Amino acid sequence: MRSSLLFGLLPLAHAVRVIQSNDDGWAEINVRTFFNSLAGAGHDVVLSGPAENQSGRSSLDAPPTTVDSDGCQFQSCPGGSPPTGANASDPRLNYVNSFPVTSIKTGIDTTGPNIFNGGGKPEIALTGPNVGSNLDIQVPFSGTVGAAVFAAHDRKIPALAFSGASGEPTAFNQPAPLYSKVYADLALNVTSTIIASGTPYLPNDVWLNINFPKVSDSKCSKASDFKFVLSRINLGIFSAKDTLWCGTDRLPMERTVINSGCFASISPGDAADKTTVDAARQKQVLDKLKPILSCLP
Ligand SMILES: *[C@@H]1O[C@H](CO)[C@@H](O)[C@H](O)[C@H]1NC(C)=O
Ligand SMILES: *[C@@H]1O[C@H](CO)[C@@H](O)[C@H](O)[C@H]1NC(C)=O
Ligand SMILES: *[C@@H]1O[C@H](CO)[C@@H](O)[C@H](O)[C@H]1NC(C)=O
Repeated sequence: MRSSLLFGLLPLAHAVRVIQSNDDGWAEINVRTFFNSLAGAGHDVVLSGPAENQSGRSSLDAPPTTVDSDGCQFQSCPGGSPPTGANASDPRLNYVNSFPVTSIKTGIDTTGPNIFNGGGKPEIALTGPNVGSNLDIQVPFSGTVGAAVFAAHDRKIPALAFSGASGEPTAFNQPAPLYSKVYADLALNVTSTIIASGTPYLPNDVWLNINFPKVSDSKCSKASDFKFVLSRINLGIFSAKDTLWCGTDRLPMERTVINSGCFASISPGDAADKTTVDAARQKQVLDKLKPILSCLP
C-alpha cells in the first residue's frame, strides 16, 4: 500500500530532459530551489544560467568572457574563472559569463547534451522563477522572457518563463525563503501539467509567461492556496478576439489576475514577437492546461 500511496503523490507521469536558466544569475536562490524540485521529481535537469545578475537584458547575446576579479555573484565562483564553468561537485549546475540568451543557448547546444542521460537536446526549457513580476510592458525587457523566447523560437523547444512578485535577490547558500519554495511548487505543477498533456508540449512558436502573486505567511502561503488563470500579455483592445473561455472572448490581463488574490497568470505568448498568441494557439494551450485552470471570481 505504501508504494501505491507514494506513487499517487508523485507529481510526474515521466521524467524529461530539462534545460533551466534565468536572468537573476545562476546562484540566485529561486532558480536553485526550482532546480532541486525538478531533480527531486526525477527530471534530467541541467542549469545553465548567467554568472552575474543579468536582469533586464532582454534578448541580448554575446560570447561569454572571463569572469572579472570580483568573481561570480554571491562569490559563487572565484575571480578570473573561465567564461563558462560548472559547480565542482555538481556538473548539472553551470554558469555562463554572458547574457541570459547566451546562457540558455550554451545549455541547449552544448552543456545539456553533454550531461543528459543518453545525450540528446532538452525536451523543455524553463526559466526563472524571476525575482519580481514580468507583466505586460515589462515582458519585452525581461531576460527571463528573452531566454525562454530564444528556446521556443530559435531552437523550437517548448519554453515556460516563471516570475514571482515576492522576494529580494538571495544567495544560493542561504536557507530557501517560503516564497521560493511556494514558487518552485507552483512552477513544478505547471511543468508537470504541460508534460502530462503529451507532445508537442506547446504549439509551434509558443512560450508561456507565468506570473505568481505575492506569498505571505498569512495568505497565499502554500501552493494549494493558489489557482491558475489563463491570461493575455498585452492589452487586447484593438486585437482579434481571444479564445472563448470563462464566458468571454477576452482573456484577463496578467496584472488583473495577480492582483485578484491567490491567482497565478498563465499567458500563451508568441515567440516571434513576445506578444499574446492568436486564438487558435490559445485554444491548444487551454486544452492542455484545463486540468489546473480556474476562472477569476
Ligand atoms: C555546488 O554544489 C554543492 C553540492 O550540490 C552545493 O552544496 C554548493 O552550494 C554549490 N555551490 C555553487 C556555487 O553552486
Ligand atoms: C539585478 O539587478 C536589478 C537591477 O538592475 C535589480 O533590480 C535586481 O534586484 C538584481 N538581482 C539580483 C539577483 O541581484
Ligand atoms: C496543481 O494545481 C491545481 C490547481 O490549483 C491543483 O488542483 C493540483 O492539486 C496541483 N497539483 C499538484 C501536484 O500540486
